[in-house]
Formats: sequence, structure tokens, C-alpha cells
Amino acid sequence: MSRVAGKVVLVTGAGSGIGRATAKLLAAEGATVIVTDINRAGGLETVQQIGGKARFEEQDTSREADWKRLIDDILAREGKLNGLVNNAGISGPFPATFETESLEQWRRMLSVNVEGVFLGCKYGVPALRQSGGGSIVNLSSLAAFLGTPDLSAYGASKGAVRQFTKTVAIDCARKGYKVRCNSVHPGIILTPMGNAVMPNDKAREHSRRRIPIGDFGAPEDIAYGILYLISDESRFVTGTELVIDGGMNAI
Ligand SMILES: NC(=O)c1ccc[n+]([C@@H]2O[C@H](COP(=O)([O-])OP(=O)(O)OC[C@H]3O[C@@H](n4cnc5c(N)ncnc54)[C@H](O)[C@@H]3O)[C@@H](O)[C@H]2O)c1
Repeated sequence: MSRVAGKVVLVTGAGSGIGRATAKLLAAEGATVIVTDINRAGGLETVQQIGGKARFEEQDTSREADWKRLIDDILAREGKLNGLVNNAGISGPFPATFETESLEQWRRMLSVNVEGVFLGCKYGVPALRQSGGGSIVNLSSLAAFLGTPDLSAYGASKGAVRQFTKTVAIDCARKGYKVRCNSVHPGIILTPMGNAVMPNDKAREHSRRRIPIGDFGAPEDIAYGILYLISDESRFVTGTELVIDGGMNAI
């Protein structure tokens, strides 16, 4: 149980769902985990479930000042940063078509889902370099590959994350930074966010039937993919897309 032993890893939005499962798995595999979220109670609950080798910091990933403070604090307290999981995200009201979406909702979505990831990379990369190199995982979505009529701003935000990840990966690789950057693309995962797009039993069954493997994913299914990308097992992997979706993107 030591696939990421000795590493210091920051997981944003780790007070719930995929972020919580990822923080727990990374800690179980030997990492010290910095759990951040805007939801203080959820973040503290994650740290409690980990029970050691984790601490919570309140952070709004769309705020530049929060990133500066957080990264400085990690370098001062832990002395290094080896991994960053840009997981925090919102899906907004459902359904939200391009005709019903307000400009305010669109901007809020891009502020958290895109600007949050941009800021994470901007402030995370220097800290990872200073620590001898490291790995960034950006949470995109299956939505980055498909039209998403009922989640218009969400789909656009995840498309941006998919593309931006490759830019960071290539820029860092060419500059010899020893920083890898990859995107993870979950399908439908049973978390508060996943459940929000399936408001009733009929919608749930309709969604389930679209998944070739026949069932929804669990947060841990995504956490195992992130663990691989944060660990040195993926040392030759950068700029790639890890789709974990029960086969939906293959049909
Ligand atoms: N659940 C799915 O089916 C699914 C599918 C594809 C992609 N994803 C992506 O996976 C990631 C995690 O999703 P989840 O399903 O675990 O969602 P979730 O809603 O269970 O958890 C998201 C967490 O992010 C936090 N958060 C929201 N805005 C924040 C901000 N500005 N700053 C800091 N924290 C913030 C929330 O408080 C929450 O704890 C998201 O980026 C999401 O878009 C999820």
C-alpha cells in the first residue's frame, strides 16, 4: 500500500464524491493529502475519514488569492508539493440548454470549472517544479467529447479543460519542467453531482441503459485512475485523456 508513499498531494473539492474518494485512496497509498473545498464541513469529514496524514484548508478554486495563500502555505508547512488534483467543479442547474442558460450562470460555470483549473496549473506548476517535478490531474468529463444539450455551459467548460490540459502538458514537457499533466473523463458517477442530473427513477433508468457496462460508476472507479496518474507508474504519460465511463464514449 505505498504507490504514492512520501508524496504531498493537493486534492481540490475533496469534501464530496470523487474528490473525497481520491483523497482517501491517495492517503491509503502513502501520500500526505491536503484536502480543500468551499464546503468546510465536507472537507473536515473527509479528513476525519482518512484519520491521519491529511489536513483541510478552505479554498474557493475560482479565487486567485486563495491559490496564492494555499500554495505558499503548503510549501511552508509540508515543504513540497508532488501532486495536484484539480477536481473541484460545479454542474449548475439541470437542465440548462443554450437557450435557457443565463450569461451569469455561464460565467459562474466557466469561473469554477475552467478558471479554477487554470489557476491551479498557474500556481501549482512552480511549486511542483520546486519540489523536483510532479503530476497534475485535471477533472474533465465524458461531456468534453459529446454535445450536451441539457448541460450547455458544463460541456463547454469540460471541453476547455480537456484542451488546456494538453497545453500545460506540452509546455511543461518542452521546457524540461518534469511536470506531467493529464485529464480524467468520468462518465456517470454516483455522487451528489451525478445524482443531480438524474432527478427521478425514470431518468435514472434511461441513463443506466446508455452505459454499455450496464451500471453507473462509483467515485472509487475514478479515484483509481487518478492514483495511477499521480503515481510514478505513469512517469511516461502526459497530455493524455483517461476516459472512465463504462464504455459510453466507445459507442
Ligand atoms: N459525478 C459525475 O458523474 C461526474 C462526471 C464527469 C465529471 N465529473 C467531474 O468530477 C469532479 C468531481 O465531481 P463530483 O461528482 O465528485 O461532484 P460533487 O458535487 O460530489 O463534489 C464537488 C465538490 O467540489 C466542491 N466545490 C464546488 N465549487 C468549488 C469551488 N469553487 N472551490 C472549491 N471547491 C468547490 C463542492 O463543494 C464539492 O465538495 C467535477 O469536476 C465534475 O465535473 C463528475
